[in-house]
Amino acid sequence: AEADDQLIIDAGQKQFGATVCGSCGMIYSADSLEDNFQHTQFHQSFLDGIKFVGWKKERVVAEFWDGKIILVLPDDPKYAVKKAEDVRRLADNELGFQQVSLRCPSQVKTYLYVNSDRMVVGCLIAEHIRQGFRVLEQPEQTKDMTREDFMEHHRAWCCSTTPEKAICGVSRIWVFSLARRKGIATRMLDTVRNSFMYGGHLTKEEIAFSDPTPDGKLFATKYCEK
Ligand code: ACO
Ligand code: ZN
Repeated sequence: AEADDQLIIDAGQKQFGATVCGSCGMIYSADSLEDNFQHTQFHQSFLDGIKFVGWKKERVVAEFWDGKIILVLPDDPKYAVKKAEDVRRLADNELGFQQVSLRCPSQVKTYLYVNSDRMVVGCLIAEHIRQGFRVLEQPEQTKDMTREDFMEHHRAWCCSTTPEKAICGVSRIWVFSLARRKGIATRMLDTVRNSFMYGGHLTKEEIAFSDPTPDGKLFATKYCEK
């Protein structure tokens, strides 16, 4: 009887369980025709969004064994600005950000990491800022907390209330799910520090991350301690 129960449970999970697509990130039910159809469509539009055909003029700011970083500025040709926007939209969608417009679009610098398969696998948006709030160490004790408690404390712990001088604000950093933990975000940020200000190099302290996600916080903490 035990074996039978097990079978039923497994079948139930298979039938009603949600699947997360490892590349486009969509959560859907693989057993629903409707869901499968929507996923196929979203998946294709995602791949189209990160496809990079190559431009006549590319502002290449760094080159690596597995790709290059292209900087897009607001006054660049339409096709470049559009690509930067398309990728930002995909990243925002995954981050669950509202589609809010950027604070000062004419100042924004978008760094795109294009890999050797001609896909944009990384996107970093940097803006000029005057001040930032230091991210504070998170206390260890997070067990026995409700989700609401956690979110509230998480916010409260997140930043000091004393503003500190900063020059470059990172409002988005995103790496394609299948390309993470390969140092792409690290290399994008290193490149920002070398290229953000003409003729100057920014220290880690002069960079601020806006409203980081848990992933973003883990990355930023690691990056800043190196
Ligand atoms: N968990 C734990 N440590 C991490 C993580 C993670 N998810 N991501 C990075 N790190 C740490 C590791 O120590 C890593 O070194 P290791 O791989 O040798 O252990 C180090 O940071 C460097 O990581 P990278 O490989 O350079 O980072 P990656 O290219 O994977 O990109 C990023 C990190 C951008 C956070 C990616 O996980 C991502 O796109 N996540 C989803 C989107 C997101 O949450 N972005 C941050 C939003 S906050 C903001 O935009 C201001
Ligand atoms: Zn998918």
